Amino acid sequence: MKKAPSYETRELREFAEVLHGRRTIDQFLQTPIPDGLVYEAIEAATWAPNHYVSEPWRFILPGKETVRRIIDLSAEIVTAAKGTELGEHKRRTWSEKPGWLIVTCPHCDDALREREDYAACCTAVQNFMLYMWKAGVGSKWTTGPVTRDARFFDIIGVNPEAAFVVGMLWFGYPKVTPTQSRTAVNDVVTELP
Ligand SMILES: Cc1cc2nc3c(=O)[nH]c(=O)nc-3n(C[C@H](O)[C@H](O)[C@H](O)COP(=O)(O)O)c2cc1C
Repeated sequence: MKKAPSYETRELREFAEVLHGRRTIDQFLQTPIPDGLVYEAIEAATWAPNHYVSEPWRFILPGKETVRRIIDLSAEIVTAAKGTELGEHKRRTWSEKPGWLIVTCPHCDDALREREDYAACCTAVQNFMLYMWKAGVGSKWTTGPVTRDARFFDIIGVNPEAAFVVGMLWFGYPKVTPTQSRTAVNDVVTELP
């Protein structure tokens, strides 16, 4: 009989290290990330589970000009809400993000289908982040106000009636890796008879 996989095997330990070790990274080195790696990570993302094999995800890689427009818009939104100083702070911090990816999901008249497509897109994002992490690249998933602004959709060339933004991701080699903790597994599991 085939033995059940054990957490003690090297392969499982290494896999668990990737799952546990991945952290949301906010501060990045300016070292460029190879385009090939980004495409490999997107390809890995597309192997996420998706009901009816709907493959709902779409990935947008904004170039320098598009990134500049997104940063301008974000600074404008923050300036309007919180003043010039914080708007300029936003511009400065976002200008230091080396890699950008936007993930979208189609709207659907069927609410259940849309929810399942969104769930699939979220698992695709996790695949992307884990693949990048294993390659030494950190990422941050953000759903800040800019990702729901009509002007943002205009900049990224997406019809907001047809699709919504699952997340904007920044990625790059980590400058600072924060620590995190999680609730003990026994406290999140219920066993039923
Ligand atoms: C759907 C989603 C949206 C998120 N949006 C933001 C965000 O807008 N700003 C932010 O700082 N972090 C955002 N995060 C990252 C979480 O803050 C982060 O995952 C959490 O702090 C746990 O840290 P870890 O990823 O290192 O485990 C988001 C995460 C998810 C899954």
